[in-house]
Amino acid sequence: MNPQLAESPFLLACRRQPVPHTPVWFMRQAGRSLPEYRKVREGTEMLAACATPDLVVEITMQPVRRYGVDAAIFFSDIVVPLKAIGIDIDIKPGVGPVVADPIRDAAAVGRLRPLSPDDVPYITEAVTELVRELGATPLIGFAGGPFTLASYLIEGGPSKNHDHTKAMMYGAPELWHALMDRLTTITLAWLKVQADAGASALQLFDSWVGAVAPRDYREFVLPYTSKIFAGLEELGVPRIHFGVGTGELLPVMGEAGADVVGVDWRVPLDEAATRVGAGKALQGNLDPAILLAPWEVVEKQARGVIEAGRVAEGHVFNLGHGVLPSTDPGQVARLTEFVHEFSAR
Ligand code: CP3
Repeated sequence: MNPQLAESPFLLACRRQPVPHTPVWFMRQAGRSLPEYRKVREGTEMLAACATPDLVVEITMQPVRRYGVDAAIFFSDIVVPLKAIGIDIDIKPGVGPVVADPIRDAAAVGRLRPLSPDDVPYITEAVTELVRELGATPLIGFAGGPFTLASYLIEGGPSKNHDHTKAMMYGAPELWHALMDRLTTITLAWLKVQADAGASALQLFDSWVGAVAPRDYREFVLPYTSKIFAGLEELGVPRIHFGVGTGELLPVMGEAGADVVGVDWRVPLDEAATRVGAGKALQGNLDPAILLAPWEVVEKQARGVIEAGRVAEGHVFNLGHGVLPSTDPGQVARLTEFVHEFSAR
């Protein structure tokens, strides 16, 4: 391991140690907001790009080169491990993941087989090459959270109310638990592939879990997120846990076992620190839409995030969700610089 990597501001903040400046990276920092991304993606479908190591390396590096962010996020998608075990799933531009045969019975759950590292040699190859190129900059590996993956599989695509998902959760709890159990096994294997190849941190994106009430989270989701974070402990890399609309879930997410809890823009970080509880770093949480406003607005709001983040035991600056495709990269560059400069004062 590169000796400077362990001392990188991002890893120090995840470990709740003193930092020279607040580290910053952005969810979806690679992607459609960047002209260089749109250029290299021309003519290649999303999931084909995810299975092409040269493209994965190039796209992951683009925001690191352009912005000088404190961490890279591996370019892939939460559905890649599902595709790799033979699920007929695709990503439709402007829509998201679409599943040909939604999973709604025991036979379909039974077809979700475990993931072996041999299913994803292109992931090992891309991570290995990235770690070499990144040097002292950490690479964050990731997976979808079990609720979010279950929702795509059960609904067959993106969903506003997660109707079928909740119908299974409440109406067929044994089937739900069997599905979550299989997703947990797949997710652990998928995250281990990335860590074994050199990823420095792992983020679980349970983006849509904010749709669940705390009591139901405890019964239907927490057993699985806890198992995932416990299973990752031996890898020794910081574990980040993120979801959208999770204000009411922050206390129970704080129990799941991550080192860092990601917070969306709805809850100020000082309040989030209280809700999550002691012994955690926080990540977040500027509203991504603020980047569409004039710079003066961005600066004022970013200052507020940094100041609220000082209350946390560790703070990694990020947005409350992904960079919107219409964002001007110039704003992101300026924000990165501002976070570094203002937090070091
Ligand atoms: O820069 C990064 O953050 C790393 C790459 C990344 C992607 N997807 C690339 C991507 C990450 C971390 C993800 C995770 C992901 N995928 C999540 C969790 C994070 C979140 O945003 O909540 C979810 C819910 C998905 C499912 C998914 N995949 C959606 C909703 C979409 C967008 C569909 C669209 O076109 O609007 C995708 C496709 C996708 N994943 C794109 C990218 C860059 C866009 C594909 C394109 O360029 O055409």
